[in-house]
Amino acid sequence: MSIAIAIDGPAGAGKSTIARLAAKELGFIYVDTGALYRTIGLAATRRGLTADDQAAVIAMLPSIKVELAFNEKQEQIVLLDDEDVSGLIRTPEISMMASAVSAIPEVRAFLLDLQRNMAHTDNVIMDGRDIGTVVLPDAKIKIFLSASPECRARRRYDELIEKGMDVKYEDILSDVIARDYADSHREIAPLMPAADAIMVDTSGEDLETSVNKLLQIMRDHI
Ligand code: DC
Repeated sequence: MSIAIAIDGPAGAGKSTIARLAAKELGFIYVDTGALYRTIGLAATRRGLTADDQAAVIAMLPSIKVELAFNEKQEQIVLLDDEDVSGLIRTPEISMMASAVSAIPEVRAFLLDLQRNMAHTDNVIMDGRDIGTVVLPDAKIKIFLSASPECRARRRYDELIEKGMDVKYEDILSDVIARDYADSHREIAPLMPAADAIMVDTSGEDLETSVNKLLQIMRDHI
C-alpha cells in the first residue's frame, strides 16, 4: 500500500517549496496539482478565451491532453499536447486564469483521475487546495499550510523578481487576496481544511524552519 500525504492551503503559503524538499527527504514523489489547473488556464488563454468563457473552456477539454511527467532530475513537468509547458504556466496572468478555470466543475472532474492515479502506485506528497477533502480523502496525513496574505505576497514577489519578471508588490498582494477569495468562495471544492487536517502557519518563518516542522509532523504520523 502506498502512502499519501496531502498538503492544502492558499497560494504562496510555501506548499510547493516545502513539499518538494520534504518529499526529497522522505523519498516520496512530489505532485504539484496547481500545475494542472495552470495548464488548463494556459490552453484556454492560447485559444483566446477569458475567465468568463466557461462554456468554451468546457468545450475545449476533450480536445486537449494534459499529463504529468518527471524529468531526469525527478522533477515534475507538465505536458500540454506533448509540449512541456512547465515554465510557461508560472506567470501572474496564468495564475488568475488557473483560479478561474478551477471553479468549473467539469475542469475539476477532468483532472480528478489523473491526480488519484498518481497516488495509486507511488508514495506521494501532493499539494493543492482540495487534496485532503476531495482528491485523496483517505490520505494518511493531511496538512493545511497557511501564512498571512502579506507574507505570502512577499514570497511570491521575491520569487518572480528572481526569475527576472517585472512585477509590483502591491499587484501581487491584490492578486493573492483576490485568489484567496475566489478559491475559498467557489461552490465546488472550495479551499478549506479537511476536518482531520493538521493546521500549520508559516508566517515569519524561514524555509528551513517550516520544512523541519513539516518533516517532524510527517515522521510522527507515517
Ligand atoms: O497552487 P497554484 O497557485 O499553482 O494553483 C493555481 C490555481 O489552481 C489556484 O488558484 C487554485 C487552483 N487549484 C485548485 O483549485 N485545486 C488544486 N488542487 C490546485 C490548484
